[in-house]
Amino acid sequence: MNIEGLDHIGIAVRRLDEALTLYRDHLGLELKSIETVSEMKVRVAKLAVGSTILELIEPLAGEEATRKFLEKRGEGIHHICLRVKDLDQAVAELKTKGYQPVYDTPHRGSGGTKVNFLRPANTHGVLLELCQLVLSKAEGRVEGKTV
Ligand code: CO
Repeated sequence: MNIEGLDHIGIAVRRLDEALTLYRDHLGLELKSIETVSEMKVRVAKLAVGSTILELIEPLAGEEATRKFLEKRGEGIHHICLRVKDLDQAVAELKTKGYQPVYDTPHRGSGGTKVNFLRPANTHGVLLELCQLVLSKAEGRVEGKTV
């Protein structure tokens, strides 16, 4: 397994704008981007904290996982994401060790990443996201509207 670092911590929020009052305005963290990830039906704001990112996640209409989380547990830490060099290889290796990823094939994440998850039942209570940065041929990170 080739874990490159802690990519981000995901925080489920009901309203992005309200959460930004604390994280951007009062804590003064730099807002890197706000993005709608249509495949995941969420809006995501990314704030830089040193070399890692806080990711505020607001579910959009029709989204279920984050919405259920908010209903059950309220706002709070939703997942942590470890960045790997090769997601397919990492998931294959985890499968050989008996773990079952949430998706059969990787999903498109925010900021030009592909992602998969391991469920909290298998990870000592943490929804664990694995992501791989996918570079576009021309200009590095694809998608992601920079603010
Ligand atoms: Co994430």
